[in-house]
Amino acid sequence: MSQKLVFRLAFLLSLLVEFSTAQNKKFVCSYSPSKAAPIGYQPEFIPLEVCPYVIFKAFSFPSVVGRQMLFNDNDKLAFSRLVSSVRKRSNTVRVVASIDGSARDFTTTSSAIVRRKAFVQAAITLLLELDADAIELNWQSPGNSGVGSGDGLDRITMVQLLQDLRQAVNAASKSIQNRQRELWFRGSLHPNVIETAYNLLDVCELTDHVTLDPNTADSLENAHAPLRGTPQVLPVQIPIITQLFGNSIEPGTGFNTTTQRWIDAGCAPKKLLLGIGLHGVRKAYSPGIRSFLGDRVGFMTADTAYLEHRELCTLIKEEGWSYAWDEYGGMPYVTRALQNGQTERISYEDLDSLRLKMDMVTQKRFGGIYVDFVHSDDIYGRCGQAYLMIAYLSSRVRSIPSDIGFAIEWIQ
Ligand SMILES: *[C@@H]1O[C@H](CO)[C@@H](O)[C@H](O)[C@H]1NC(C)=O
Repeated sequence: MSQKLVFRLAFLLSLLVEFSTAQNKKFVCSYSPSKAAPIGYQPEFIPLEVCPYVIFKAFSFPSVVGRQMLFNDNDKLAFSRLVSSVRKRSNTVRVVASIDGSARDFTTTSSAIVRRKAFVQAAITLLLELDADAIELNWQSPGNSGVGSGDGLDRITMVQLLQDLRQAVNAASKSIQNRQRELWFRGSLHPNVIETAYNLLDVCELTDHVTLDPNTADSLENAHAPLRGTPQVLPVQIPIITQLFGNSIEPGTGFNTTTQRWIDAGCAPKKLLLGIGLHGVRKAYSPGIRSFLGDRVGFMTADTAYLEHRELCTLIKEEGWSYAWDEYGGMPYVTRALQNGQTERISYEDLDSLRLKMDMVTQKRFGGIYVDFVHSDDIYGRCGQAYLMIAYLSSRVRSIPSDIGFAIEWIQ
């Protein structure tokens, strides 16, 4: 073989390696020490062979001390425990430090130069001192759309904060060779928030990944994490409206529509990671209270509780539940009558609803998914195979052809 050919082959091979690592779809598990500790679930239990990325949920917003901002010591301790457990077992698994913050926290911090600087400095200590591979901002309910509880200027100051963070994260990546650090951002799937709170294009451009939070969906739906919204039948027939839309309106609240809005705004699908919550939402409500829009008043004001899959999989096996499938949402739910005349309803995920969501992830060519939380799954195998849902989701993610393979297939 000529030397030239060898060089060429080596070059092609290195490209191939680069493509195969760059194009893999991501499977991300989240871990919450405050939820995991009460059930005795240690960082050592996280199945790293299926979780190449772990998100730590979460650091509370750092508090202001003089001109500095400091993270809570307990959060740092819990994070260090996770990082050392992961590093002991693997040198490829990456750990993402998520930072929670209310709309108020982030608005005040992002709107003043001095505060932005202090926040960026604190965030960078998570990379350089606590050895995180990435930081994620969980800016909860930005904007002032009525759903968001922030400020109308959030969409501008958010970009400024992300610019500052981007610069600092790039600098941190350069400080240690071959140690790429990343900046992630949690995005909302509420139509009103998407509409008003984000400069979607810049948010995508400045971050490595946007994680789309399923818990931000518009809760009008029967299904709590719906694929499609339930069409709303118009209470009064107004001819011009009926002519335009028919006598029902597709509300655009389902994930198929809300995730598409991030893509249509110019966000590269491979940057988007769809969140999948391994929990159900339980509501107890009084049937029969009707609003002018239908029978949803009782439902909306209902007591709402989260039930992790681990708990609900045994609960819904009890007597008395009737099972139904929400055709639009693409999710199952069960209902039963309570002693006090109320109805109890649990909307949840099963392998069928997860299959539909993964079909969408594949079809839209997202960068992958994140799962809330690794310990919400049936970790002890009380309802069948342990970690059944995580195993299913992981196998689906691994079976998605890489973007480069997809492109070749598409050209042919
Ligand atoms: C989701 O929307 C796309 C168009 O954006 C459509 O082709 C597809 O059939 C929809 N999927 C579902 C499950 O409704």
